[in-house]
Amino acid sequence: MEDLLDFLVLCFSATFIFLWWRHWSVTGGGHKNLPPGPPGWPIVGNLFQVILQRKPFIFIVRDLRAKYGPIFTMQMGQRTLVIVTSSGLIHEALVQRGPTFASRPMDSPIRLVFSVGKCAINSAAYGPLWRSLRRNFVSELISPVRVKQCSWIRKWALENHMKRLKTESFQNGFVEVMSNCRLTICSVLICLCFGAKISEDRVAEIESVLKEVMLMTTPKLPDFLPILAPLFHRQMREAKELRKKQMERLVPLIRKRREFVDNGERPNLEMVSPVGAAYVDTLFGLSPVGRGSLGEEEIVTLCSEIVSAGTDTSAMTVEWVLLHLVQNQEIQQKLYDEIVGLVGRDGLVMEEHVEKMAYLAAVVKESFRRHPPSHFLLSHAATEETELGGYTIPADVNVEFYTAWVTEDPDMWEDPGEFRPERFLDGGDGVDVDVTGTRGVKMLPFGAGRRICPAWSLGVLHVNLLLARMVHAFRWLPVPGFPPDPTETFAFTVVMKNPLKAVILPR
Ligand code: HEM
Repeated sequence: MEDLLDFLVLCFSATFIFLWWRHWSVTGGGHKNLPPGPPGWPIVGNLFQVILQRKPFIFIVRDLRAKYGPIFTMQMGQRTLVIVTSSGLIHEALVQRGPTFASRPMDSPIRLVFSVGKCAINSAAYGPLWRSLRRNFVSELISPVRVKQCSWIRKWALENHMKRLKTESFQNGFVEVMSNCRLTICSVLICLCFGAKISEDRVAEIESVLKEVMLMTTPKLPDFLPILAPLFHRQMREAKELRKKQMERLVPLIRKRREFVDNGERPNLEMVSPVGAAYVDTLFGLSPVGRGSLGEEEIVTLCSEIVSAGTDTSAMTVEWVLLHLVQNQEIQQKLYDEIVGLVGRDGLVMEEHVEKMAYLAAVVKESFRRHPPSHFLLSHAATEETELGGYTIPADVNVEFYTAWVTEDPDMWEDPGEFRPERFLDGGDGVDVDVTGTRGVKMLPFGAGRRICPAWSLGVLHVNLLLARMVHAFRWLPVPGFPPDPTETFAFTVVMKNPLKAVILPR
C-alpha cells in the first residue's frame, strides 16, 4: 500500500515539476534583481551541486564568497538563500534597518511539528506573538534582578560540577570537558524553567532528547524540495515519535509545577523556586496576541528552546577555551594569577568576582571570535520586499548572515587564525569591540539588532563562572599520548570533532 502511495505521489510530483519547469523556463525564474550567484541546474538550482561536494556548507560558502563577494544568492531547490558576508551589509541589515530584516522564513513541515506552528521566540515571525513571548522571557527570566535572585541555582550546580570532575578524574585519570559542562548548564536551565532540582540522570535524559530534536530540525533534502515532502513520510513519522518522547520527558515537570503553583505551596527539596520565580510559572498566565492561552504543547516548546539555546552554545565555548589553556600553559597561568589575585588561593569564586576579571573576559571574547559557536545566525527574512547592497531581497527568501567570515577577515583582525586574548586588552586590535554589533560589526557571536540573543549576558556568566571555578581548582594538562585535537565538526554548533579530554591536577 505504501509503495502504491509512493508511486502516485511520484507521478504527481513529476507532473508538477514538469509544469513548474515550463513556467520557470518561460519567466526566467521570477525575481530579476537578486544578488549574483553560481548558476544552478533546472528545478534543483544549486542543491545537488552542494550535496555532491560532500563538504560542510560553510566551506562551500567560503569559496563562493571569494568568487561572488559580500552578497550572493544560492538557489537551493525551491528555497532561495541570500547570503550576506560583509561587515557593512550585516550592520546595515541588522542594525540600521533592523525591523525590516527581523523576521524568520517559513518553517519546514518537520520544524513546524516541534515549534507547534512557530510558537517559539526563535522561530516566530516578527510581530505581536514574537514581541509578547520575547518580552515575557526578558522581563521574567533574565532581568538583572531575576538573574541575581537565581544565583543560588548556579552555586548548587557548580558544586555538583566540581564534585563530578573530581570523581571522574579519580576513576578515569582524566575528565571529559564538554559532557560535564553540558550537564551542568542544562541542570541550571531546567531549574530556571521549571523551578525544580531533578537528578542528573533525568537531566541527561532531557538533554539527549533535546539534542535529537536539534539534529532532527536541521535542514534536510525535503526542506529544500517541499514538493517531494510526501515521499519522506518516514522522516515525518520519526519526527512525530520524537516529539512524543520530548512531551513525555517534559510534561510531568510542567504538571508538577502547575500543581505546586495552584496550591500556593512553599518551596521544598524538589520544587526549589518559590511560586512566580520559574519561567514556566509566567507561561501559565500568558495569553499572547493571536494565540490565546498556552497549552502543554506550546509550553514544552518554549521551555525546550531555552534549554537548547543556552546549553551547547555556552558548553562549547568553555571547551574551546580549555583547549587553548591546555595547549598554552602561559595563558592558563595568567588567568590563574588573575583569579587568585581576586579571591585568594583558598577563596571561593563568586559571581561578583568574575565581573571584575579583565583577562578572563579577554580569553572568553577571543574564544567567541576564533570559535564562534555558530557560523551563521539563525535564518532571517525581510518583513516585505526590500533592497540590500543594490539588489532586491524578496520577502519569501532566507537571508543568511555568515558572521564567522567577519572574524576571519585579515583586513579586520591581525593574524585572525591565532588565539591571542591580549588583542582585547589595551592597545590590541579588539580592545573597543562591541560584541552586540550596535556600533559596528567586527564580531557577532550573539547576532545584532532586534533578534540579538536575548540571554547573551546569562550565557557569558555561565561560561565565566565555569572557567573561573575550574581553573582556580585545577591545573589543566593534556592527557599523555593524546594531544588535544582542534579539528572542527558541525552538529548544530561548531564543535570539536574529538571532544576534549584533559588531566586535572588539584592546585
Ligand atoms: C554563549 C552563549 C550563547 C550564544 C553564543 C548565543 C547565540 C545566539 C545567536 C547567534 C542567536 C541568533 C540571533 C539571530 O538570529 O540574529 C541566538 C538567539 C537566541 N538565543 Fe542565544 N546564545 C547564547 C546563550 C543563550 C542562552 C543562555 C539562552 C536562554 C537562556 C539563549 C536564548 C536564545 C533565544 C530565545 C534566541 C532567539 C531570539 C529571537 O529570535 O528573538 N541563548 N543566540
